Amino acid sequence: MADRLGGSGEIGATWALIAAAGSGERLGIDRPKAFAALGERPLLAESLERLESCELVDAIVVACPPGWEEPSILLAEELAASKVVACVTGGATRAESVAAALAEVGDEALVVLVHDAARPLLDEAVVQRLLGPLGEGYEGAVPVLPVADTLKRVRDGAVVETVARDELVAAQTPQVFLADTLRRAFAGEFDGATDCASLVERAGGRVAVVEGDPKLLKVTTPADLALVESWL
Ligand code: C5P
Repeated sequence: MADRLGGSGEIGATWALIAAAGSGERLGIDRPKAFAALGERPLLAESLERLESCELVDAIVVACPPGWEEPSILLAEELAASKVVACVTGGATRAESVAAALAEVGDEALVVLVHDAARPLLDEAVVQRLLGPLGEGYEGAVPVLPVADTLKRVRDGAVVETVARDELVAAQTPQVFLADTLRRAFAGEFDGATDCASLVERAGGRVAVVEGDPKLLKVTTPADLALVESWL
């Protein structure tokens, strides 16, 4: 498990990557989603501040929307987020953005946590739950929630199958991985992956699940933003 070097002034073993480079078209605003207003601050400020104050995290890399690197650096400075070591330009897909951030992770890293800026209400208890399985032989861990609705597979506007729900869950972020495992997963094809765990699974890695958090809602629409704001 991660042996932190916290307090020594050196960068330690657990690195957090924030995927913040999405456009956020569905929010209907004139700026990327990470810079949508959540209360008085940009959405990104919430997860940045929470990871900065999380004792389990030693260093942070942000994948920024193209052209928004400077505002991201300024935001980190305003928040006195001294764990931020780089604000890199994100890519065309989430996986490309994570790959760009992962390239900045130091060799000393043992654990990499990947989080979506679109899920601002990150609680340290989730990070704690996630790190447990890495000490028990798993290469990764993801927070999940049970699926409440009946799920149907649909083709050309018609139901072709009702999918058994008992083995299905909804996966959230943050997701944590052994650093070497994540690097190997990203060494292959990663286009189209909507989360990092799917790449690790594909490469044969064992990924554990832990209890997720309903407040880790992913902000997609203006209604989501209003709901998250009401929970702040
Ligand atoms: O678009 P969606 O909300 O599913 O994106 C999930 C997360 O991935 C968001 O935090 C978003 O900023 C990030 N993302 C990214 N680079 C992209 C697309 C999405 O970092 N090209």
